[in-house]
Amino acid sequence: MPSPTTSTAKLDHFFSSSSARLDRWRELNARAQAWAAQARSGKSGGERAAVEAALAEVRALEDFFAYPGLRLMKALAERIADDDAMGVARLARRLSSALLSGSYRYDTTQWDTADETAPAVADRLPLAPDGGEARRPYFETLFVTPAPAASLLQVANEIRRLRRVEDAMIYEPVLVGSFEDAILGTVFNGKIEAVVIYDGIPIPSQHDVPLLRDFLSSYQQLDTSTVAPREVGITLARAIKRIRPELDIYLLTDRQVEKLAGDPAASMIRRVFYEVEELTEVHLNIIEGVADRFSTPHFDNLKRYAARPIATFHALPIARGKSIIKSNWIHDMGEFYGQNLFLAESSATTGGLDSMLEPTGNIKVAQEKFARAVGADHVFFVTNGTSTSNKMVYQAVTAPGDIVIADRNCHKSHHYGMVLSGSQPLYVEAFPMTEYSMYGAVPLRTIKQALLDLKAEGRLDRVKMLTLTNCTFDGHVYNTFRVMQECLAIKPDLLFLWDEAWFGFARWSPFLRPRTGLGAAAALEEWRASPEALKAYQAQAAELGEDLDPKDGRLLKRRLVPDPRKIRIRVYETDSVHKSMSCLRQGSIVAVRDEDYNKHVSAFREAVFIHASTSPNAQIIASLDVARRQMELEGYELVMRAIEISLAIRRAVNEHPIISKYFKVLGADSMIPDEFRASGFKDFLAPGSTWLTALKSIQEDEFFLDPTRMTLVCGTAGLDGTSFKGLLANKYNIQLNKTSRNSVLLQSNINNTRSDIALLVKVLLEISQEIEARLAEGGESERSGFAARVKSLMTDVPDLPNFSRFHDGYREDPDSVTLEGDMRSAFFAAYEEDDCEYLPLMSPKIDERLKSGPELVSANFVIPYPPGFPIMVPGQVVAADTIGFMRKLDVKEIHGYNATRGLKLIKLSAIGAKKHSGEKPKPAAAAPAKAKSKR
Ligand SMILES: Cc1ncc(COP(=O)(O)O)c(C=O)c1O
Repeated sequence: MPSPTTSTAKLDHFFSSSSARLDRWRELNARAQAWAAQARSGKSGGERAAVEAALAEVRALEDFFAYPGLRLMKALAERIADDDAMGVARLARRLSSALLSGSYRYDTTQWDTADETAPAVADRLPLAPDGGEARRPYFETLFVTPAPAASLLQVANEIRRLRRVEDAMIYEPVLVGSFEDAILGTVFNGKIEAVVIYDGIPIPSQHDVPLLRDFLSSYQQLDTSTVAPREVGITLARAIKRIRPELDIYLLTDRQVEKLAGDPAASMIRRVFYEVEELTEVHLNIIEGVADRFSTPHFDNLKRYAARPIATFHALPIARGKSIIKSNWIHDMGEFYGQNLFLAESSATTGGLDSMLEPTGNIKVAQEKFARAVGADHVFFVTNGTSTSNKMVYQAVTAPGDIVIADRNCHKSHHYGMVLSGSQPLYVEAFPMTEYSMYGAVPLRTIKQALLDLKAEGRLDRVKMLTLTNCTFDGHVYNTFRVMQECLAIKPDLLFLWDEAWFGFARWSPFLRPRTGLGAAAALEEWRASPEALKAYQAQAAELGEDLDPKDGRLLKRRLVPDPRKIRIRVYETDSVHKSMSCLRQGSIVAVRDEDYNKHVSAFREAVFIHASTSPNAQIIASLDVARRQMELEGYELVMRAIEISLAIRRAVNEHPIISKYFKVLGADSMIPDEFRASGFKDFLAPGSTWLTALKSIQEDEFFLDPTRMTLVCGTAGLDGTSFKGLLANKYNIQLNKTSRNSVLLQSNINNTRSDIALLVKVLLEISQEIEARLAEGGESERSGFAARVKSLMTDVPDLPNFSRFHDGYREDPDSVTLEGDMRSAFFAAYEEDDCEYLPLMSPKIDERLKSGPELVSANFVIPYPPGFPIMVPGQVVAADTIGFMRKLDVKEIHGYNATRGLKLIKLSAIGAKKHSGEKPKPAAAAPAKAKSKR
């Protein structure tokens, strides 16, 4: 993507702002120091011009930030005009380091225009009314005002004068004068937490921003030239909310405020004020709004609890920590974790502490706040990971005999969820990425085909839910809106479970949010209410009929539109908050946006009782609360940074002359076949890529690649994924998560900094240089050995096995085209050891049985790590390709497989339908064979 530092005018190359801005300041500082050195040496040269050019680069963005602000920027310009090289160097250094460290947020001297000596109070723009400042939370508020540029300083001072000693927080105003500049401010400045819009502001920006207009028209379907003057305020509020829904928006107007406040179109505005009289009220509201996001009811309460002198007589010796801190033998644990951990431990649910199993107090409020933050109606906290969240959803919304369409690669908690609930999986396959020994995501065509087949067979009513992993481990992001829209066209009440274990952070990126389950649910609601929805449906109905014919080949080829009058929007999203936000391990949520949730309220309560520990960890709950606070206040900025970092890593690896010989981060074009990228988007780094082309891909393509998930190919360095992961961990202290045969997965998250990139690049360079040296010194034999190793890793890769089928004994109708099966009965059949047999993987008996029967039926889930998905599930007929894959796998960890005893199989004699002798099963003549159910 083009670097924003290439041109001053290219302000609208947004979304690479925060570190780009700091880079510009660093550059300005470096130029200023060079000018000062030149002046000290008495030489002349072009350094002053370089400073001026660097300042011009900096200046364009600074309109959107409170610091350094108008006064300090003016002071800097004046020193340059006065030829004061030393003064410029001092001020540039101070401003640059205050920005880098963030010290301007609490250190009032950073706002002084004079260098060393404290200026007169009147000359300073104090952060607090008394000029001193304790560390109150700091933020910035965007004021969108028609005030003339000449009076902006005065307006800003008026706003500052509203501050009170009692204010819990402090904010600096950022003043912009138009609709477009307000959008730019919202996008660039992650410190903005509230926006005050004066009605009657003009539309165009003072900057040259053609891309911004394209962004508004494509992302927001908004043509600003057609907005009526009276509507500008509300339209702006709506546009800002689409980018950053967490911001509080206030509208100041001289119109009839009562009418406006009651207008549903203005519902996204927190409060409407009558312009001339209410500035103090606005100020108080701004602080209250941010304080509401800041407040963490459970965590705050836990802190209060920890500070109270409490004697405990319940069964939790660790509470208060006395048995630890006073111990001769384990006091180091107390020292390591600190006393607060133990002071905040309790098993009580009274005395101000709430119960996670039946929350009525602060945990309930904390859950409600989380729901607001992610755009859900309800959120349940889960302290045992998304593994449990998923099982809870299955437990609560599916029942024995229901059919669930599930990605076969989905996390094992889904498979176990179906074992627990008795729902039957109908597995659908993701597209394979055989070259890298991994799977992509499930094409929509495959999902539609499954639904249409079920419809053709008269079993559509049995289908309860579709579950997909979004994004996948490797970063494939579904077009959630389109998937739901088209599936609802076939089954209007289908429920969706989006497993977003890895994708919780996406809510805070305006790009990624529409591709989350909840983001798409909101968009679907909006679409349903629009007149276009009904029109589109009626046009389709005229062509294809009201009741879609499942045999009509056109249905798979075209985009289906559901009947907006009939669909129910029923979305469940599970997020491992601990995987992408600042939450303790195992903190997870189930988020619900289901308009028929009333059908499941009591089932959900049961699901909580079944799955949640009766001793949930208060610290995990508190960290869920705190993670929500952080994301609502700085999630936007942090996620942008994580994306920027990932782009920088991609660039640093793929463009490095030595590293790129041995390593490569795969682009979207390698991770997603062309047919699923209709927009033509190739990659973030491809020539011509801008945020707009990425946006087009996000809107149009079937799959989009989450930029923060980077598949780094290491097979080309002669290293398999597992050994490379080990090398990075043991020798270089770099940890990563997933591996494949020839790649590892790098993830950037809100915790990463640019130093992490530097470390990674340094290490990759070192490894690459070692390979170069080895190849150069080792002669021909070393080189051919290396080439053979690379070939084995990169081309001799095993084919990925598809799901074969359930044994007929576990299918209600073995004739049916669709392959759902009663996995639960097979699972429990395996509890009876006498009904099971074992065959070693390498045994020739396996080959004999594959060839001439009887069929092999898996008793277990067999899950190799990597790739980490079940290649066998209970009741599955084991096929030759699965055995071939397993034999080729060179991984140590295979869950469900005991290498000494071999594969655990269900004896055919134990399966109800005994019509197998190795020959292909024939259709059952009479009633469907019943599996022998043990439970
Ligand atoms: C797609 C998916 N869902 C669910 C989980 C389980 O999440 P947790 O580790 O929070 O239990 C994982 C874990 O890796 C996962 O990859």
